[in-house]
Amino acid sequence: MREKNYDILVLEGDGIGPEVTAEAVKVLEICGERFNAGFDLSSALVGGAAIEAQGVPVSDETVQAAKNADAVLLGAVGGPQWDDLPTDKRPEKGLLALRQILDLYANLRPVSVHESLAHTSTLRPEVVSGIDLLVVRELVSGIYFGEPRGRQNTSSGREAVNTMRYNEEEIARVARVAFDAAARRRKKVTSVDKANVLEVSGLWREVVIEVAAGYPDIELDHQFVDNASMQLIRNPGQFDVIVTGNLFGDILSDEAAMLTGSIGMLPSGSLGGGSALYEPVHGSAPDIAGEGKANPLAMILSMAMMFEISFEMDEAAESVRKAVEEVLGNGYRTGDIMSEGCKLVSCAAMGDLVADAVRKDS
Ligand code: IPM
Ligand code: MG
Repeated sequence: MREKNYDILVLEGDGIGPEVTAEAVKVLEICGERFNAGFDLSSALVGGAAIEAQGVPVSDETVQAAKNADAVLLGAVGGPQWDDLPTDKRPEKGLLALRQILDLYANLRPVSVHESLAHTSTLRPEVVSGIDLLVVRELVSGIYFGEPRGRQNTSSGREAVNTMRYNEEEIARVARVAFDAAARRRKKVTSVDKANVLEVSGLWREVVIEVAAGYPDIELDHQFVDNASMQLIRNPGQFDVIVTGNLFGDILSDEAAMLTGSIGMLPSGSLGGGSALYEPVHGSAPDIAGEGKANPLAMILSMAMMFEISFEMDEAAESVRKAVEEVLGNGYRTGDIMSEGCKLVSCAAMGDLVADAVRKDS
């Protein structure tokens, strides 16, 4: 008898999504055996795949299945064949709708540099080595969802509008996630905004300061987003937890990801009230899809986040992370992180190596 059973919805999505999720599932199954947990996997379509088969980027049934699951694992969405569709019919809309309906308001994007990869970063190894930061990005409000939005033709030509909007509870709840995370880490929060120009950022800063009053042990500082993007490449070691809004977090998390040498290494988890969603930070990489060249480690590490955060399976999470370190330490690389003297392996081979390392870990 398995000690515990978890329902997981797997949404492979588009491009390299199916390849990388297959490797994560491989490792998941080994973890089930080793750590005495049962996983009931079901799968559904999202993104371009759902548009082709069901005519919408995410169907109501898929949303319902996501709500019912204990956790959702998602590959990636999007591709050039859907680029000409209007914003609300595109593959990305499937992901955005899932985030919003599940109220996944806090997106956690941890960034750490694997020692054996420090030299593959475009920054000097001494700048990036030892980086260990967490971007907490607000995910269901701000300019991504604010109203009014849309396009219109006016007497002076075409016009388009989006609205960056937050209310205080939306800011407070994601700030609390950031402070709680900092309490378990190095006890520092940097809040990023554009309060020198935007009213919405003025409110952001005010509310973050109010929330901080409940966390006397945590150091809080504020940076404007332009400065923060500069500080991230100048001296990334200064950051512990970064908390910011939806758009700034989207941009800064890609930048932070690149510190590690490859965005193919970075996991993420999106949390709200109910079931959480775990997905790599990278996109669907249509240029290499189906060629076995993708790096499955971000997806595998996203699954480790799921173990830790949703299932409280800390040991399994640790074992997966250790396995990834070991495989990298032994010189195995996918193309995106390849360097001289290392052994180039396919997506599936990388998954096998990690699965083996977890199996042997005792
Ligand atoms: C991300 C992605 C998404 C976003 C896209 C695919 C809609 O860039 O998760 O960072 O902008 O949130
Ligand atoms: Mg992004």
